Amino acid sequence: MKIEIVPSILVKDKDDAIDTIRAVEPFVNRAQVDIMDGLFVNNRTNDDLARIKTKLKLEFHLMVEDPIKYIKKYKNIAWMIILHFESFETEEELAKAIALVKKYKIKIGLAINPTTGVYRIQEMIKDLDLVLIMSVRPGFGGQNFIPTAMGRISTVRALNPKVDVEVDGGVRLALVPDLVRAGCNVIVAGKAVTHQHDVGAAVKRFKESAKKALEDW
Ligand code: DX5
Repeated sequence: MKIEIVPSILVKDKDDAIDTIRAVEPFVNRAQVDIMDGLFVNNRTNDDLARIKTKLKLEFHLMVEDPIKYIKKYKNIAWMIILHFESFETEEELAKAIALVKKYKIKIGLAINPTTGVYRIQEMIKDLDLVLIMSVRPGFGGQNFIPTAMGRISTVRALNPKVDVEVDGGVRLALVPDLVRAGCNVIVAGKAVTHQHDVGAAVKRFKESAKKALEDW
């Protein structure tokens, strides 16, 4: 299993998004763009990113009340769309959104907030490329990691050995070995990577820690 280190981009204006993407481009091949509408979460990010140019694979983490609008907005540049289970009133609506993402031939991820039971999505995991276990309440970077995320990661891993299991929120270097041992293979980091003076060194430390954790496992 390869462990991916994915910087998260949570910015309020387009220039910051481009600056952050340029800062991480030399060190990773994928980044997560946080899209927040100020309704689903109490924060708004820039969402004028449809024409952003980068070689990075971009996953769009939709923390929004109207996911369909943003799937259509980013369908031409998204490598992956990550929907929030809590964005949908019914499972039928969620299934339609998943089908739309797949129709656009984009990879599909589903995120669950810390208080949403894993059992709520267990039947859908087989239809997903990725499950995102939120380890903070979504909306802001720099929060503290919620420890119950470790057990939830292990639960998803036990339910499906193949699906990518991603964690996002409050991730710090010291948590990487336990995250890998819990079964996480995609690690999102904001402050611990993109806010560092030496982004490359921060990514390198994350990659080395993940590699060692896999070897020691
Ligand atoms: C929170 C976002 C996270 C956040 C991560 O709603 O989805 O991606 O930006 O930032 P850190 O790693 O600093 O918690």
